Order: sequence, then structure tokens, then C-alpha cells
Amino acid sequence: MERLPLQIAIISLVLSFSHLLLCASDDRITPGASISSNGTLVSNGGAFALGFFLSGNSNSDLYLGVWYNNIPQKTVVWVANREKPITDSSAVLRISEDGNLIVMDSKGGIYWSSNLTGLGTPGNNTVAVLLNTGNLVLREDINILWQSFDHPTDTFLPGMKIQYIYSNHSTTQFTSWKDANDPSPGNFSIGIDANTVLQLLTWTGSKKYWRSQVWSGILFSGIRGPNSNSVIYITYLANEGGISTIFGVSDPSYYIRYTLNYSGQVQVSSWDYSSKSWQYYASAPINCERYGWCGQFAYCDATASVSTCKCLEGFEPKVDSDWSAGNFSGGCIRKKALQCGNGDGFLRVQGMKLPDHFVFLRNKNISECRSECMGNCSCIAYSYSDLTMLNSTGNGTISRCLVWLEELIDTELLRSGGEDLYLRLMDLNLGMFLSFLLPQCKIVSSYSSHMNQVEQVHSGYCRS
Ligand SMILES: *[C@@H]1O[C@H](CO)[C@@H](O)[C@H](O)[C@H]1NC(C)=O
Ligand SMILES: *[C@@H]1O[C@H](CO)[C@@H](O)[C@H](O)[C@H]1NC(C)=O
Ligand SMILES: *[C@@H]1O[C@H](CO)[C@@H](O)[C@H](O)[C@H]1NC(C)=O
Ligand SMILES: *[C@@H]1O[C@H](CO)[C@@H](O)[C@H](O)[C@H]1NC(C)=O
Ligand SMILES: *[C@@H]1O[C@H](CO)[C@@H](O)[C@H](O)[C@H]1NC(C)=O
Ligand SMILES: *[C@@H]1O[C@H](CO)[C@@H](O)[C@H](O)[C@H]1NC(C)=O
Ligand SMILES: *[C@@H]1O[C@H](CO)[C@@H](O)[C@H](O)[C@H]1NC(C)=O
Ligand SMILES: *[C@@H]1O[C@H](CO)[C@@H](O)[C@H](O)[C@H]1NC(C)=O
Ligand SMILES: *[C@@H]1O[C@H](CO)[C@@H](O)[C@H](O)[C@H]1NC(C)=O
Ligand SMILES: *[C@@H]1O[C@H](CO)[C@@H](O)[C@H](O)[C@H]1NC(C)=O
Ligand SMILES: *[C@@H]1O[C@H](CO)[C@@H](O)[C@H](O)[C@H]1NC(C)=O
Repeated sequence: MERLPLQIAIISLVLSFSHLLLCASDDRITPGASISSNGTLVSNGGAFALGFFLSGNSNSDLYLGVWYNNIPQKTVVWVANREKPITDSSAVLRISEDGNLIVMDSKGGIYWSSNLTGLGTPGNNTVAVLLNTGNLVLREDINILWQSFDHPTDTFLPGMKIQYIYSNHSTTQFTSWKDANDPSPGNFSIGIDANTVLQLLTWTGSKKYWRSQVWSGILFSGIRGPNSNSVIYITYLANEGGISTIFGVSDPSYYIRYTLNYSGQVQVSSWDYSSKSWQYYASAPINCERYGWCGQFAYCDATASVSTCKCLEGFEPKVDSDWSAGNFSGGCIRKKALQCGNGDGFLRVQGMKLPDHFVFLRNKNISECRSECMGNCSCIAYSYSDLTMLNSTGNGTISRCLVWLEELIDTELLRSGGEDLYLRLMDLNLGMFLSFLLPQCKIVSSYSSHMNQVEQVHSGYCRS
């Protein structure tokens, strides 16, 4: 399986037959109407259905959810009453007297509500509609009062946004199921990192489990498959109010989704009509990509055939025996202590997922960014990029100067799409005794572990 964390997925599908387009009029409920435990709504276009399904480990708990309507494998993309399963088959979905969308049984027990306040008695133009994107929308005339796309469970569908709003720090959160059969909230969640607003984080409890690449200003990323129209893309939008990441596909007849599975993996998959199964294209984290797995001043080398932990150049394992035993958590230490302003310099390390715990300095150009780090003895690395943003006035760029002051954690050498990290080291030219023969040659020493065998590798290479 390819590694492709939430950035770009390359999907090339061949549709073996064009799927059915069912035209259903039962895509909505109005005040007074309801959906009972044996009924469904089907979106106009036939892609999604909404109804009650049995789940949970005893298979007796009833949940209201949305699933793909015309694929044989029931794949639930949204669940309403995750926290409160229904045990009474008299439960219905309806628009309540206070204007909310609710799941309620005949005894008045409420299992779920859209929880809006101040709506008042629903008018006759209040309606709940299941759209063909899978979005369940409660609206009054054209005003959207509530929509399931703003309250996702574990699935990111085309058309959805992951948002961060500055004023109240609210962010879209996805939470995994508890296990394959249990839609109640599980151990993992993912959302925009509120501390930096420049990356996504998967959490397990209060611990970080995986981190995306730092937002590097890719406004639009997507790749066209050779024999199809299938492009999937992630767009970043930034404005005064906040930022959002929007997932889109060029051809909505392909069913493509991101999910956070119950074991914490972010996966990209698409429905394959010929094998009648989901094909998984990408997944994160794989092996040492787990957050901080390699310890500080180390990186996960994803370019190796089996990804492995290695020390950054100029560093060596803190405890050799731990590394030999495959325990990387102690990380690496400097081979030669820094003497600030006395023989130190910056080494350009290419192709990296930048480490965590950066400080974002605003309004610095590349040379100011470098001298900011150079002139501050606590600064151990920096990285610079121009961020492209799309806002109400069109495209613009802002500078992204990142500096690191304490440690470098959760770094990765990527197969593609990595960035330059400038690493502060002593005696940069120490290993450069070849440099009078060829410029840009380096001696690299690294540790790698394959199948419990750990080897120290010394190699030299030259870059033109
Ligand atoms: C659905 O359930 C209701 C109430 O239990 C029942 O009256 C109705 O006949 C059922 N409809 C179908 C199509 O089974
Ligand atoms: C609705 O609000 C109640 C009380 O504030 C809360 O307990 C419940 O979890 C909320 N339900 C949803 C679906 O957000
Ligand atoms: C909607 O409600 C208004 C006011 O109650 C009423 O005049 C109108 O006839 C209703 N429209 C429909 C389509 O029922
Ligand atoms: C945060 O603010 C936005 C925009 O004003 C609003 O839509 C959203 O409901 C707010 N979220 C919370 C959790 O208050
Ligand atoms: C979730 O965490 C609990 C408590 O740590 C653990 O027992 C359970 O196995 C975990 N579930 C999964 C799917 O990892
Ligand atoms: C979660 O995703 C990983 C990676 O694709 C896979 O190995 C694992 O089996 C999945 N777990 C579940 C519970 O689906
Ligand atoms: C790994 O090494 C760290 C110290 O470097 C130690 O605290 C930890 O217990 C070790 N873990 C295992 C599983 O041996
Ligand atoms: C960066 O900004 C400084 C001060 O404003 C200016 O002197 C310098 O020319 C700029 N450098 C670049 C590369 O734009
Ligand atoms: C070094 O830079 C950091 C971040 O800009 C700043 O907080 C710190 O005060 C600086 N230290 C010195 C000695 O200038
Ligand atoms: C923004 O830039 C992208 C890529 O350069 C371009 O495709 C897009 O049309 C631009 N959008 C606007 C609103 O200028
Ligand atoms: C849009 O972005 C550009 C570049 O960052 C900026 O100069 C401009 O002020 C922004 N417009 C708004 C309305 O935020």
C-alpha cells in the first residue's frame, strides 16, 4: 500500500459498468412526516441512503446513519446517535416542534438531536433533505440550519470541509468507530492542530498519534489517472475567519472517501465496481511514521524499502543498545556540541516532512528567516516557504518562516513532496574531505533496522 498522507491520492479507476442512477423522490422529510426504523430516504440521484441500521457487538443496537445506496457492501459514512444507541424499534427521525431534527421513540425518549436553539415552530418550508453528496441538510427555504457535513463521524467525503475558525477555535473533528461493529466514538480523532493551524493531527486520547505534513502552500493538489477523469484534490482556503481544507473529486460517480479507521489509520479508498470492493490507495501512519516513533533528532526514512528510523546528519543514537534492540524512542544526540557563532552553520536537508514544535514567524522573507535563526543561539533549525492562499480577493502568498528552538521530533524523509530543513550543525565541513575533489559530497552515517537486524551504514554521496 502506498504511503500518501492526506495530501494527494492518485486514483485511476476504470468503471466496468456505469452504475445505476436511481431517481427517488423520497429524499426528504417535512414537519409532520417521519422515517421509522424500517424506512429510508434515498438521495435524488441515488448515491446515498439514510435510515436505521443494526450494529453494535450484540447487533441489537439501532443507529440512524447514511450509507452508499447502490453498492452491495453496506458502508456507513455518517452516524447520528453514536453516543446513544436506540433499543426501541418505535424510534423515528422527524422534525420536532422546536424545529430540530430529532430521533425519538414512542415514549418520548430522545436519542439524538441537531441541538439548535431558538428555531421556533418549523414552518412549512422547513425540510430535511438527504443530498446526493451524502450530506443531510436541515433547511428553511434556502437557509441551511444544520448539516451533517459539519458534524462528521469517521468519513471525509467529497464536498466536505475540515475547518478551523479563529474566533472560537472550533475545528472539524473526525472520530473513529470503537470497532468494526460499533459506531460509538472510538480511540482516535483527527482535526486541524489548534496550536499551529498549519497541520492535521490524529490523536489517541491526549497523545498525538500521527501528524500530516506542515501546510506548504499547495493550493490545489491532484493528479489525473491515465484512463479516466478521476482527479481527487484537496484545496486549502484561508481567510480572515479561519482556514479550511476541502476535498473534491472531478467526477462524483467515483466513490472516494477518507476514513479514520478504528485502529487509527487514515485511509483513502475508492469503490471498485468490478471487484465489488473498496480498494485502498493510501494509509497513514505506516511503520515509523507514527508520531515521534523515532525519537528526537531522528527521522523516519520512508524512502527505504521498509521504512526505518535514522539519526539526522550530525547526530547519533543516544543509547546504541536501545536502537540495536529496535527501541528508537530515546532518539539521537549531537555528535558535536554547538558553539553558537563559532564554527556552526546550516546544513540543507532535503525531502523532509518538517518536524513538529515549530515557531511560526510571520512576515519574514527567506533571508530574514535565516538570519533570525542564525542570530538566536536557541535556534537549531529553520525552514522557509511561500504559502499560497485563496481568499476572498483571489490568490495571494504569505511567507512561512518556521524555526525550531528545542528539539526536532517526528521528522520524516518522504518519497516525494518533501521540503528543505536547514539544520544547525557544528563543523559542517568536517566530513567534507572529499569536497576538494567534488563539491557537495557528504559522508552519511545512519542506522537502520530491518527485521530486527540493525546495521550502521556509512556511505558517501555527491550531489551536483
Ligand atoms: C414499518 O414499520 C411500521 C411500524 O412498525 C409498520 O407499520 C409498517 O408497515 C412497516 N413498513 C414496512 C414497509 O415494513
Ligand atoms: C445536545 O445537547 C445535549 C445537552 O447540551 C448534549 O448532552 C448532547 O450530547 C447534544 N447532542 C448532540 C448530538 O450534540
Ligand atoms: C405554508 O404556510 C402558510 C402560512 O401558514 C400558508 O399560507 C401556506 O398555504 C402554506 N403553504 C403550503 C404549501 O402548505
Ligand atoms: C464558531 O463560530 C462559527 C462561526 O461564527 C460558528 O458557525 C460555530 O458554530 C462556532 N462553533 C462553536 C463551537 O461555537
Ligand atoms: C481503545 O483503547 C482501549 C483502552 O486503552 C483499549 O482497550 C482498546 O483495545 C482500544 N481499541 C482499539 C481499537 O485500539
Ligand atoms: C486500518 O488500516 C490499516 C492500514 O490500511 C489496516 O492495516 C488495518 O487493518 C485497518 N484496520 C481496520 C480495523 O480496518
Ligand atoms: C525504550 O527506551 C526508553 C529509553 O530510551 C525506555 O524508557 C523505554 O522503556 C524503552 N522501551 C522499551 C519497550 O524497551
Ligand atoms: C528581505 O527583506 C529585507 C529587509 O526588508 C531586504 O533588505 C532583503 O532584500 C529581502 N530579501 C529578499 C530575498 O527578498
Ligand atoms: C530566540 O527566538 C525565539 C523565537 O523567536 C524567542 O522566543 C527567543 O526569545 C529568542 N531568544 C533570544 C536569546 O533572542
Ligand atoms: C489561484 O491559483 C491557481 C493555481 O495557480 C489557479 O488555478 C486559480 O485559478 C487561481 N484562482 C484565483 C481565484 O485566482
Ligand atoms: C488575500 O491574501 C492576500 C495575500 O495574502 C492579502 O494581501 C490580502 O489582504 C488578502 N485579502 C483578504 C481580504 O484577506
